[in-house]
Amino acid sequence: MVAERGAEVLVASNRGPVSYGLADDGALTAKRGGGGLVSGLSAIGPDAGAVWVCAALSDADREAVRRTGGRLDPADTGGQAVRMLDIDPGVFDGAYNGIANSVLWFVHHMLYQIPLEPVFDAAFREQWAAYETYNAAFADALAEEAADGAAVLVQDYHLALVPGMLRERRPDVRISHFSHTPWAPPEYLRILPDDVRDQLIWGMLGADRLGFLTRRWASAFTSECAGRWDHMSVTTTHGVTPQRWYVEHTRTQLPPTRTTDVDVHPLGADAAFLRERAHRPDVGERLAALREEIGDGRKVIVRVDRTELSKNIVRGLHAYARLLETHPEWRENVVHVAFAYPSRQDLAVYRDYTAEVARVAGTINDTYGTATWRPVILHVKDDFARSLAAYRLADVALVNPIRDGMNLVAKEVPVVSDDGCALVLSREAGAAEELAEGALTVNPYDIEATAAALHEALTMEPEERAERTKRLAAAATALPPQSWFLAQLEALRD
Ligand code: F6P
Repeated sequence: MVAERGAEVLVASNRGPVSYGLADDGALTAKRGGGGLVSGLSAIGPDAGAVWVCAALSDADREAVRRTGGRLDPADTGGQAVRMLDIDPGVFDGAYNGIANSVLWFVHHMLYQIPLEPVFDAAFREQWAAYETYNAAFADALAEEAADGAAVLVQDYHLALVPGMLRERRPDVRISHFSHTPWAPPEYLRILPDDVRDQLIWGMLGADRLGFLTRRWASAFTSECAGRWDHMSVTTTHGVTPQRWYVEHTRTQLPPTRTTDVDVHPLGADAAFLRERAHRPDVGERLAALREEIGDGRKVIVRVDRTELSKNIVRGLHAYARLLETHPEWRENVVHVAFAYPSRQDLAVYRDYTAEVARVAGTINDTYGTATWRPVILHVKDDFARSLAAYRLADVALVNPIRDGMNLVAKEVPVVSDDGCALVLSREAGAAEELAEGALTVNPYDIEATAAALHEALTMEPEERAERTKRLAAAATALPPQSWFLAQLEALRD
């Protein structure tokens, strides 16, 4: 499946476009993932000979690798050439649960409870070694698969060391790295041990281009480069849209002086896909079921998230409770539909947070609920069709992360909404950079202000709501996944 001369375009990400299930009888079932990267990559078409390199995330994935030698059956991947890496489970655990999700995710989302954490001890050092091994496995695979001068698009904080490692192995290829998370400001990034921080920055600067979702995250990264190292200088195209930064750096094992371009690609919603998908019969069925659950004539506040610490679900529930307390006229007349889908349940802190979400939702229902009205409808089973149904019927969407690279829910709701939807949006979500005009923006820590914004959203005149929804949808779809992906690819090939 990989042409003999190698692939011209490669994507590397921890989570690939397909995952497997293993039945008791040993049969493997493939589940194709959605998301911006999958639809973005489909834009380059089969002739490009693109290969996607990803990690096996489960025992079933490892079994698929064992049976296929890692080059997955195209029947399972919708024709996409995928090389899945079977990384030793202990190494994967240290790299993914340890460094990627418990350190880098926490740093970039500024999630640490600082007086007690983090603790960088011997266990951390073992995890860091695992992260290096895991990144090296990707760099090896990419080096093997790439044609001369190929374009390699590396994704996210799991693979921050890959650009530097790959450049050492294959100086001929063009490399980009895209961050789907925020980037921590220098004052927060310096929590990391100095050598680890240096390795991350130098790893990423192995790329020819670095991409971020917003100016804010790109600017935090370039401030880090400008502030700390000798032999590194940053210039920028002030006043030009889109802004671009150039990081010039010198390092002994690299060619004398190299420049890494840094720019911003704000991933948008895929309107055509979402609108078509949201009007299929399975979504219609869920819409009817949700309407039944909610009851006639009630306004609906919707939120859809992974149960993720940065999503701020608990404060969102407190803000809703405060709305019911301060505006009793909403009792019986509004329902909060909260979908909080399980995420990273291998980590205790995520399990505890999941339990806290359920506890607070239960308390609101116990305090305010009546025989005829359940104030919070909480669903935790991941169901994309039901999420789309909720988007369609929402009067208000609550998207209140304490920090978020972009947040695609904020962009998807206005595109899918049937009758217009007011958006209460955290100013700390990357999406706020484009959507602030149409949304009601809030400080996500401020429960009083969030409750007030919910009230304002619920009482917004239909004409204003429709007009804002239109503006939000236009901004949300400015850079759909396929254009987002092609823009990066073209920039890399330039
Ligand atoms: O936001 C960064 C990201 O990698 C997203 O692309 C994705 O939605 C999320 O994190 C998923 O995390 P995980 O693979 O750990 O479930």
